[in-house]
Amino acid sequence: MKNKIIIDTDPGIDDAMAIHMAFADQRLDVIGLTSIFGNVTTNRATRNALRLAEMAHYRTIVAPGELVPMIRAPEPPADFVHGAEGFGTIPAATPAGGADSRSAAKFLCESCAAAPGEITICAVGPLTNLAAALSLDSSIVRDVKSVVIMGGSYAYHGNVTGCAEANIWNDPDAADRVFAADWDVTMVGLDVTERTQCTPDDFAFLASRSPHIGGFLNEAAIFYFDFHQSKTGIRSCFMHDPSAILAITDTHLFGFEVVPIAVVCKGKEIGRTRLYEGQGRRPVKVATSVDNVAAREKFLGLVANADSISRMRKAG
Ligand code: RIB
Ligand code: CA
Repeated sequence: MKNKIIIDTDPGIDDAMAIHMAFADQRLDVIGLTSIFGNVTTNRATRNALRLAEMAHYRTIVAPGELVPMIRAPEPPADFVHGAEGFGTIPAATPAGGADSRSAAKFLCESCAAAPGEITICAVGPLTNLAAALSLDSSIVRDVKSVVIMGGSYAYHGNVTGCAEANIWNDPDAADRVFAADWDVTMVGLDVTERTQCTPDDFAFLASRSPHIGGFLNEAAIFYFDFHQSKTGIRSCFMHDPSAILAITDTHLFGFEVVPIAVVCKGKEIGRTRLYEGQGRRPVKVATSVDNVAAREKFLGLVANADSISRMRKAG
């Protein structure tokens, strides 16, 4: 039986990499994409999610997410990382289909209630939709199979500030709510997502094997490489969001520590994930190591076949 997942996402270049990898993975059934602000606005994230699904002929629901963080004022989208429309310099395109009439939170709650214990939510953007789902119907903690998050870091390290990772920093209050809830959470943070990297040659390979989808990612990735090179001096990119999907499909590639996590919601360390020192918070599986060679190969192997799998899907 396929693993059912819903990807909560702010597409976003590495979101697109993760989503196309998931669409190409026959072990997964992506029953929905829920959109959130972060790399782009929520409206653009919804549009981009629809576009990714249509590009791969993948029939899935796209449900629109929250427009602003729970409490803190919204930050501007990360257009300097992902481009104004989300996919580098690739122009916006209007999808043929439309989004679901339900909110992301409602879709998450109803989907999990309809298939108790079967659905993993993989959140690769700010956690506002997950916090909204907890408020809407707290029985989601019982109905969901597990929650896997790309966000945070276990060691003292950040990518927006010295100690805060972008997805957590964009809505720290929502993230703390998610870490405080009594559900099965895995945190895939910068400790592992920055260890798995791909190069322009990797994306040229994907474009040669899958000209449509790999070609799209290869073109979008140019902007992403520019950003990484400006930060690290090296023309390679971190595989943040694909790592979270791989933690579901290929868990054996990761090592974990199991500890309760809290988020700093105020002050100069806002957005930092840290050990929770109180009582009664359910421990989180925190990814602390990764077989980065195997993770990169898995990503490339799956996306290399994306066009042929999408053609088979289209043919029915
Ligand atoms: O910090 C990396 C995360 O922030 C990724 O999910 C990326 O897509 C951005 O949202
Ligand atoms: Ca993302």
